[in-house]
Amino acid sequence: MQLIDGKQLAKTIKEELAQEVEQIKANGGKIPHLAAVLVGDDPASKAYVGSKVRSCEKIGYKSTLITPAADVSEEELLGIVDKLNMDPDIDGFIVQLPLPKHIDAEKVTLAIDPKKDVDGFHPQNFGRMALGLPCYLPATPFGIVTMLDRYNIETSGKHCVVLGRSNIVGTPISLLLSRKAKVGNCTVTITHSRTKNIAEEVKRADIIIAAIGIPRFVTEDMVKDGAVIIDVGINRVEDPTAKRGYRLVGDVDYENVAEKCSFITPVPGGVGPMTVTSLLTNTLRASRKEVYG
Ligand code: GUN
Repeated sequence: MQLIDGKQLAKTIKEELAQEVEQIKANGGKIPHLAAVLVGDDPASKAYVGSKVRSCEKIGYKSTLITPAADVSEEELLGIVDKLNMDPDIDGFIVQLPLPKHIDAEKVTLAIDPKKDVDGFHPQNFGRMALGLPCYLPATPFGIVTMLDRYNIETSGKHCVVLGRSNIVGTPISLLLSRKAKVGNCTVTITHSRTKNIAEEVKRADIIIAAIGIPRFVTEDMVKDGAVIIDVGINRVEDPTAKRGYRLVGDVDYENVAEKCSFITPVPGGVGPMTVTSLLTNTLRASRKEVYG
């Protein structure tokens, strides 16, 4: 079994991006600039956005953090989005989700200029992805594709089973892995809450993408010998021996499954760290106008 070390790979990619920034500086080009909008003070969102902004600083990007209060009106938030759309120095920006209930997240996502939508959440970017046109890939699927690519894992002709059909992971990764591309050419099965016998489907997989949000759902008996496992789950489970009273586990029963696999991502330290590098890569592409010209 070989570990797919997302933490190390993310570090390597950040070093590569930092070198790109050095080159840009040496050539007198524009420094990539990412803005993040964090509404309210949800601790998890604060932590995620904090990590994104710190990563920007570390590799030499400019970053701007905008922190409206939780009671900001939808109109005010749309005003902030509009300003960011218009600001020529901002290459890309994100509005961290979830948003407070009184704000229509879909309306906000639609208001973001697709050229600056480095999250890849706007339907225009999603549609371009589905059609194989230049686009910003969403962070998690982009991170998964990058891991498979950098670890030289063969995907062509393989049977990939995806657990979960969310708009941000299950559905886009299914499209990406089935397309005609270097990382692609898989036969993909998407499973979800209405799938009759998930265990039977997963057992057939050469590549398993677990994005179902149930702690340790994928067990040893569901995994074919030599399978590749990408675990997208980040679940809190009670652990009285841990300082915080809980620990993080994936959607895969790692301890029992790992030995059967050819490759597996750990949780934490697998897919998670790769999502930030996806965002940073998209921001560089935005500053270079690689996607929309
Ligand atoms: N909330 C959880 N993940 C994400 C993400 O990748 N982007 C945004 N904007 N919000 C999130």
